[in-house]
Amino acid sequence: MRLKNKIAIITGAATGLTGEIRGIGGATAWEFVREGATVYLADINDELGERTAAEIRETGGAARYVHLDVTDEVLWQKTIDSIVKAEGALDVLVNNAGTGRDYDGDYSDPDGPQNAEEALKVEFTTVEGLDRQLGVHVRGAMLGMKYAIPEMRKRGGGSIVNVSSIHGIVGVDTITSYSTAKAAMRHMSKTVAIQYASENIRVNSVHPGYTKTPAALPLFTDPELYADRTSQIPMGRYAESGEIAKSILFLASNESSYITGAELVIDGGHNAQ
Ligand code: NAI
Repeated sequence: MRLKNKIAIITGAATGLTGEIRGIGGATAWEFVREGATVYLADINDELGERTAAEIRETGGAARYVHLDVTDEVLWQKTIDSIVKAEGALDVLVNNAGTGRDYDGDYSDPDGPQNAEEALKVEFTTVEGLDRQLGVHVRGAMLGMKYAIPEMRKRGGGSIVNVSSIHGIVGVDTITSYSTAKAAMRHMSKTVAIQYASENIRVNSVHPGYTKTPAALPLFTDPELYADRTSQIPMGRYAESGEIAKSILFLASNESSYITGAELVIDGGHNAQ
């Protein structure tokens, strides 16, 4: 019961059904309720989010689904207000919502990218795509912290975990706007960690490597792509979402009470090379 009596919100947590590949947010929700937390699963995929929350409740866990587009400041305010009204407090925030795509996959424009590889490059990065990535990852995480921290202060502390990526630490051949947004999340975590350390509000980032989630489906269902990517990973495989969730649990719980402004890389040795 490492999160007993704790109230948590996890964004991008709709993908948590049993028997299906879980996302990092959905897997984290299960870890949290198992450890005694009351968890709010926030997402824009309402149908899936409601089903996941209902399934968690059926197993005796305390879970609710809330519709939250993390780019919407008014919705963030309302969501945090309603959680605090219902539960009396907020202790843990996990900024996990994310999107890996900033291109719709249409390669018919002769002036646009001709294939998926080209679409990653800065020459073909669109302002809209960049704004979308910065919106979900940077603006979303910023707003979450902005409205959660005053409530954590009332509790005498709290823990925030921002889900970045290995792509936020090292330059890799990936979507320009995605790695840029993930790097900004990493730095913002450290800045905010320093600002609130004296109030016992901890902020850390996690940096998963390739992880088997619904969003990353093509990266592990295509055998050629999987072989190519895993050849770059010392442990020779992708992470399971539950492996990332356990690290998030550690940072959310009091076991990490002296850890703030840190980055936890969970990548099978990828970035150690
Ligand atoms: P996932 O398959 O669980 O999908 C992400 C979730 O975020 C979806 O449920 C989606 O509806 C939600 N979402 C998207 N935009 C949103 C918005 N504006 N507001 C609220 N919710 C929104 O994805 P996965 O792979 O578990 O990703 C979770 C986080 O982990 C993301 O931030 C991703 O960038 C990060 N990550 C994933 C890696 C991977 O290989 N799967 C590796 C490193 C980081």
